[in-house]
Amino acid sequence: NINADGKIDYVFKIVLIGDSAVGKSQLLARFSKNKFDVDSKATIGVEFQTKTLVIDQKTVKVQIWDTAGQERYRAVTSAYYRGAVGAMLVYDMTKRQSFEHMTRWLEELRGHADKNIVIMLIGNKCDLGNLRAVPVEDAQEFAERENLCFMETSALECTNVENAFLTALTEIY
Ligand code: GTP
Ligand code: MG
Repeated sequence: NINADGKIDYVFKIVLIGDSAVGKSQLLARFSKNKFDVDSKATIGVEFQTKTLVIDQKTVKVQIWDTAGQERYRAVTSAYYRGAVGAMLVYDMTKRQSFEHMTRWLEELRGHADKNIVIMLIGNKCDLGNLRAVPVEDAQEFAERENLCFMETSALECTNVENAFLTALTEIY
C-alpha cells in the first residue's frame, strides 16, 4: 500500500527565489511546519525543508530550497538550481520593485535550471491588500507572457500557500 511501507515514489526539488523580504522563508515555514515568524531574519546561504505528501496515490517527498534574496548572502547559483523541477518566483505585492525584478530572477532561473522546470509566480502578502502596489492584471499579464502559473498568497494568514505548492507539484507530476 501507499504509505504502509514508507516507500517514497518521487522526490521533487523546488526552489524559492525573489528579492529579500518578500516572504520566501515564511512561505516555506508556513507550508512545511504551518508556522509564521513576524521577526523573520534574512536568510544567509541556503536552507531547506522537506514535506511528504500523497498525490494521486503516490508518495511524493518535496524538498524545498530557500536562499537569500540579498546578493551577498546568496548560495552558489548553479548548485542551487541543479535538479530543481519547480520554482516559486516570489514578489511582495506591496513592493512594486520586487515585481519589476521578476524579469531578472526569471532570467537567472532560465539560465541555470532545466528547461522543463515548472515556474509559479507568487504575489505574497495579500493580507496587506490596502497597500497593494501591483495590480493583479499586471501580474497575470506577465505570467501569461512568460508562460507561468500565478497566485497571490499570504504566509501570514495562510492564504493559498498550500494551494500554490500543490498546484506546482501537480504540474510537475
Ligand atoms: P531573504 O531571506 O532576505 O531573502 O527574505 P525572505 O524573502 O525570506 O523574507 P522573509 O520570509 O524573511 O519575510 C520578510 C518579512 O516579511 C518578515 O518580517 C515577515 O514576517 C514578513 N512576511 C512574510 N510573509 C508575509 C505575509 O504573507 N504577510 C505579511 N504581512 N508579512 C509577511
Ligand atoms: Mg529568507
